[in-house]
Amino acid sequence: MIVTVIFGSDGGATKGVASKISKKCQGRSVDIKTATKADFENSDLLILGSPTYGDGTLQTDWEENIDKLRAANLKGRKVALFGTGDQESYPTSFVDAIGILYDEVKDLGAVVVGFTDTAGYDYVGSTAERDGQFVGLALDLDTQSGLTDKRVTAWLSKLL
Ligand SMILES: Cc1cc2nc3c(=O)[nH]c(=O)nc-3n(C[C@H](O)[C@H](O)[C@H](O)COP(=O)(O)O)c2cc1C
Repeated sequence: MIVTVIFGSDGGATKGVASKISKKCQGRSVDIKTATKADFENSDLLILGSPTYGDGTLQTDWEENIDKLRAANLKGRKVALFGTGDQESYPTSFVDAIGILYDEVKDLGAVVVGFTDTAGYDYVGSTAERDGQFVGLALDLDTQSGLTDKRVTAWLSKLL
């Protein structure tokens, strides 16, 4: 199975998670700044990751390159999402970027997999939460970094 991870990252946290994920599934990890149409389309499982910035926005490189995603043919393709955030400092917009990417890929007709349980997090609101679940893997390297490895491993074992 060919896995491609496309990420954006300001401070390096999301980049680190992207390379961890791609290593675990013998895939590639590609920065959204340099990602091509083929990177979006030529995999069996496409994984997209973004930190949340502002008050619940996508990371800047994702915002600046969102047309690359919108131009990709993802109809019927399997897509999984992950996001990094900080539930203590931003409790009302925790990992909102996952929710934004979810709406984008749903519009493209992708099949989104890898929803996760919201138990174990302490936040007030998140657009990544739909019908009581996160629509991807929520990671908090600021306040729950010790849980990252466990969460990534459990998520991938369900996905692969
Ligand atoms: C200015 C600023 C705004 C942020 N806004 C949010 C937010 O709205 N929601 C959230 O969950 N995390 C927020 N965060 C936390 C980051 O998403 C988190 O630190 C993430 O791990 C950064 O990833 P990166 O190192 O890949 O850029 C914010 C961080 C900063 C510095």
